[in-house]
Amino acid sequence: MRLQNKVILITGSGSGIGKATALLFASEGAKLVINDLNEQHGQETVQQIEAAGGEAIFIRADVTKPDEVSAMVDQIIAHYGVIDVLFNNAGISGVGVLHEIEPEAWDRVINVNIRGVFLPSKYVIPHMMERRSGSIINMSSCIAEIGLARRASYAATKGAVLALTKSMQVDYAPYGIRVNALLPGTIMTPFVEDYLKKSYDNPEEAIKGLKKRQLSEELGYPEDVAKAALFLASDESSFVMGSPFYVDGGVVFGKNA
Ligand SMILES: NC(=O)c1ccc[n+]([C@@H]2O[C@H](COP(=O)([O-])OP(=O)(O)OC[C@H]3O[C@@H](n4cnc5c(N)ncnc54)[C@H](O)[C@@H]3O)[C@@H](O)[C@H]2O)c1
Repeated sequence: MRLQNKVILITGSGSGIGKATALLFASEGAKLVINDLNEQHGQETVQQIEAAGGEAIFIRADVTKPDEVSAMVDQIIAHYGVIDVLFNNAGISGVGVLHEIEPEAWDRVINVNIRGVFLPSKYVIPHMMERRSGSIINMSSCIAEIGLARRASYAATKGAVLALTKSMQVDYAPYGIRVNALLPGTIMTPFVEDYLKKSYDNPEEAIKGLKKRQLSEELGYPEDVAKAALFLASDESSFVMGSPFYVDGGVVFGKNA
């Protein structure tokens, strides 16, 4: 039980990496707050946690809306009294070369992926400061470190999240709050399947190409990222601060040919 009794909010945990992480955290004794825009998916995550004997509640909130995020945090504090860990996971993909991106599409990606980290942090951090304790995990991506084709808006957001993580860490270290970033490579989730469908005529061929740019023979799975998040959420990582944590099958530091 590596997270016994910790209260943990995971944004976007109705699907993919957030959901896998919620299931793993609950199995390690955490009390989960499942947040998502998609109520049905969020409730399904709660049901799966409860069926496995864990504890979770669902709160629907859009991470880009201050009123909804603030009300969510108030509800968690009223219910549990504390928030030990915040995992800013919710995010959307953005596909296209820069000159073809519509301004509205650009704004949407920037809004969800950056403002969606800012707002939950803004409302959760005062509670962590009061207790002089907390762990925040921000979802970046290995795309913050390398150039990838047709991902301009998305790359801009994930680079921003990495930079934000480091600044947050400096500001909140005096309050006993750790802030780290996760940098996954390609992880097979609904998010990636959607991106493959929208970007390539032949998604199977695209998967072969994705595998070639990493050292591992397989693509990643949500559980791979969940295990890294578990380390960052737990007290085992108490000396890990402001770090980029790569979970990418060797994309960033490896070279296959
Ligand atoms: N899958 C990958 O290869 C990969 C790689 C690197 C980083 N990431 C990042 O990991 C995170 C999760 O990705 P995933 O692949 O699990 O995606 P996913 O689409 O499976 O899950 C994302 C969830 O976030 C929710 N969401 C979207 N906008 C929201 C909002 N405004 N408010 C609340 N919830 C919202 C969605 O409803 C969805 O359930 C994202 O930030 C993504 O950028 C994914």
